[in-house]
Amino acid sequence: MAPGHRDRSGFGRLRRTENDRAGWWMIALMTGKPVNLTAALASFDEVYSPRIVARMNDYDVRVAHARGDHVWHVHEDTDEFFLVLDGRFDVATRDADGRETVVELQPGDTYVVPKGVEHRPSSPGSSILMFEPSGTSSTGDRHEGDIPDHVDSTTGHEL
Ligand code: NI
Repeated sequence: MAPGHRDRSGFGRLRRTENDRAGWWMIALMTGKPVNLTAALASFDEVYSPRIVARMNDYDVRVAHARGDHVWHVHEDTDEFFLVLDGRFDVATRDADGRETVVELQPGDTYVVPKGVEHRPSSPGSSILMFEPSGTSSTGDRHEGDIPDHVDSTTGHEL
Protein backbone atom coordinates (compact mmCIF):
# COMPACT_ATOMS: atom_id res chain seq x y z
CA MET A 1 0.00 0.00 0.00
CA ALA A 2 1.43 3.36 -1.00
CA PRO A 3 2.47 5.70 1.84
CA GLY A 4 -0.26 8.11 2.71
CA HIS A 5 -2.87 5.93 1.04
CA ARG A 6 -5.18 4.92 3.83
CA ASP A 7 -6.85 1.56 3.77
CA ARG A 8 -10.45 2.65 4.03
CA SER A 9 -11.63 -0.87 4.76
CA GLY A 10 -10.22 -0.46 8.25
CA PHE A 11 -9.09 -4.05 8.28
CA GLY A 12 -5.48 -3.38 7.29
CA ARG A 13 -3.69 -6.68 6.93
CA LEU A 14 -6.92 -8.69 7.10
CA ARG A 15 -7.14 -8.68 3.34
CA ARG A 16 -8.97 -11.45 1.59
CA THR A 17 -6.85 -14.27 0.20
CA GLU A 18 -7.92 -17.67 -1.01
CA ASN A 19 -6.94 -19.15 2.34
CA ASP A 20 -8.64 -16.46 4.34
CA ARG A 21 -11.78 -16.20 2.28
CA ALA A 22 -14.14 -17.64 4.88
CA GLY A 23 -12.57 -15.56 7.65
CA TRP A 24 -12.89 -12.37 5.66
CA TRP A 25 -16.48 -13.13 4.86
CA MET A 26 -17.33 -13.64 8.53
CA ILE A 27 -15.71 -10.33 9.39
CA ALA A 28 -17.65 -8.64 6.61
CA LEU A 29 -20.90 -10.10 7.92
CA MET A 30 -20.15 -9.14 11.51
CA THR A 31 -19.19 -5.59 10.68
CA GLY A 32 -21.92 -4.81 8.20
CA LYS A 33 -19.69 -4.27 5.17
CA PRO A 34 -21.89 -3.01 2.33
CA VAL A 35 -22.77 -5.60 -0.28
CA ASN A 36 -23.87 -4.49 -3.72
CA LEU A 37 -26.48 -6.87 -5.15
CA THR A 38 -25.48 -6.25 -8.78
CA ALA A 39 -21.87 -7.06 -7.95
CA ALA A 40 -22.89 -10.05 -5.86
CA LEU A 41 -24.94 -11.51 -8.73
CA ALA A 42 -22.13 -10.85 -11.21
CA SER A 43 -19.70 -12.81 -9.04
CA PHE A 44 -21.23 -16.22 -9.86
CA ASP A 45 -23.08 -17.92 -12.70
CA GLU A 46 -24.68 -21.02 -11.19
CA VAL A 47 -28.50 -21.12 -11.26
CA TYR A 48 -30.57 -22.09 -8.24
CA SER A 49 -27.48 -21.84 -6.03
CA PRO A 50 -28.20 -19.03 -3.56
CA ARG A 51 -25.51 -16.79 -2.09
CA ILE A 52 -25.92 -15.18 1.33
CA VAL A 53 -25.49 -11.42 1.03
CA ALA A 54 -26.55 -10.47 4.56
CA ARG A 55 -27.68 -11.91 7.84
CA MET A 56 -29.96 -10.20 10.30
CA ASN A 57 -31.21 -11.69 13.55
CA ASP A 58 -31.69 -15.33 12.60
CA TYR A 59 -32.44 -14.66 8.94
CA ASP A 60 -30.48 -14.79 5.69
CA VAL A 61 -30.86 -12.49 2.75
CA ARG A 62 -29.88 -14.59 -0.26
CA VAL A 63 -29.66 -13.88 -3.97
CA ALA A 64 -29.77 -16.40 -6.79
CA HIS A 65 -29.91 -16.74 -10.54
CA ALA A 66 -32.88 -18.77 -11.73
CA ARG A 67 -33.40 -20.64 -15.00
CA GLY A 68 -35.45 -23.74 -15.73
CA ASP A 69 -37.61 -25.67 -13.31
CA HIS A 70 -36.73 -26.01 -9.64
CA VAL A 71 -38.02 -29.06 -7.77
CA TRP A 72 -41.35 -29.36 -5.98
CA HIS A 73 -40.59 -28.96 -2.28
CA VAL A 74 -41.98 -27.72 1.01
CA HIS A 75 -40.62 -25.82 4.03
CA GLU A 76 -42.64 -27.19 6.92
CA ASP A 77 -41.65 -24.55 9.48
CA THR A 78 -41.05 -21.32 7.62
CA ASP A 79 -42.52 -18.95 5.08
CA GLU A 80 -40.24 -18.03 2.17
CA PHE A 81 -40.00 -14.50 0.79
CA PHE A 82 -39.09 -13.74 -2.83
CA LEU A 83 -38.26 -10.45 -4.54
CA VAL A 84 -37.63 -10.53 -8.29
CA LEU A 85 -34.64 -8.38 -9.23
CA ASP A 86 -34.71 -8.97 -12.98
CA GLY A 87 -36.30 -11.28 -15.54
CA ARG A 88 -39.45 -13.30 -14.99
CA PHE A 89 -39.83 -15.71 -12.13
CA ASP A 90 -42.83 -18.00 -11.66
CA VAL A 91 -43.85 -19.85 -8.54
CA ALA A 92 -46.22 -22.79 -8.77
CA THR A 93 -48.00 -23.84 -5.58
CA ARG A 94 -50.31 -26.71 -4.73
CA ASP A 95 -53.23 -26.54 -2.36
CA ALA A 96 -54.29 -29.36 -0.04
CA ASP A 97 -56.31 -30.93 -2.86
CA GLY A 98 -53.34 -30.90 -5.23
CA ARG A 99 -54.65 -28.06 -7.38
CA GLU A 100 -51.82 -26.02 -8.88
CA THR A 101 -51.67 -22.24 -9.09
CA VAL A 102 -48.87 -20.32 -10.79
CA VAL A 103 -47.97 -16.73 -10.03
CA GLU A 104 -45.92 -14.91 -12.67
CA LEU A 105 -43.59 -12.40 -11.09
CA GLN A 106 -41.85 -9.46 -12.75
CA PRO A 107 -38.96 -7.31 -11.52
CA GLY A 108 -39.99 -5.53 -8.34
CA ASP A 109 -42.66 -8.10 -7.48
CA THR A 110 -42.58 -9.76 -4.08
CA TYR A 111 -44.22 -13.00 -3.09
CA VAL A 112 -44.38 -15.13 0.04
CA VAL A 113 -44.85 -18.89 -0.02
CA PRO A 114 -46.45 -19.78 3.32
CA LYS A 115 -44.89 -22.52 5.38
CA GLY A 116 -46.18 -25.98 4.61
CA VAL A 117 -47.19 -25.09 1.04
CA GLU A 118 -45.68 -27.21 -1.75
CA HIS A 119 -44.06 -25.00 -4.36
CA ARG A 120 -41.87 -25.13 -7.45
CA PRO A 121 -40.16 -22.04 -8.85
CA SER A 122 -39.40 -21.85 -12.56
CA SER A 123 -37.99 -19.18 -14.80
CA PRO A 124 -36.90 -18.45 -18.37
CA GLY A 125 -34.02 -16.52 -16.75
CA SER A 126 -34.04 -14.18 -13.76
CA SER A 127 -32.37 -13.02 -10.59
CA ILE A 128 -34.12 -13.16 -7.24
CA LEU A 129 -33.64 -12.20 -3.62
CA MET A 130 -34.89 -14.45 -0.82
CA PHE A 131 -35.42 -13.85 2.86
CA GLU A 132 -35.66 -16.84 5.16
CA PRO A 133 -34.33 -18.24 8.43
CA SER A 134 -30.63 -19.18 8.39
CA GLY A 135 -30.25 -22.88 7.76
CA THR A 136 -33.31 -23.15 5.51
CA SER A 137 -32.64 -25.68 2.75
CA SER A 138 -33.20 -24.54 -0.84
CA THR A 139 -34.96 -27.84 -1.52
CA GLY A 140 -37.07 -27.82 1.61
CA ASP A 141 -37.65 -30.39 4.31
CA ARG A 142 -38.88 -32.74 1.61
CA HIS A 143 -39.05 -32.66 -2.16
CA GLU A 144 -40.69 -34.60 -4.96
CA GLY A 145 -38.58 -36.93 -7.09
CA ASP A 146 -34.93 -36.41 -7.89
CA ILE A 147 -33.23 -33.06 -7.54
CA PRO A 148 -32.22 -31.92 -11.06
CA ASP A 149 -28.53 -31.34 -11.74
CA HIS A 150 -29.14 -27.61 -12.20
CA VAL A 151 -30.67 -27.27 -8.70
CA ASP A 152 -28.29 -26.91 -5.77
CA SER A 153 -29.61 -28.35 -2.50
CA THR A 154 -28.01 -25.93 -0.05
CA THR A 155 -28.56 -23.70 2.94
CA GLY A 156 -26.82 -20.94 0.99
CA HIS A 157 -23.21 -20.28 0.06
CA GLU A 158 -20.96 -17.44 1.09
CA LEU A 159 -20.34 -14.87 -1.59
NI1 NI B 1 -38.67 -23.02 -1.29
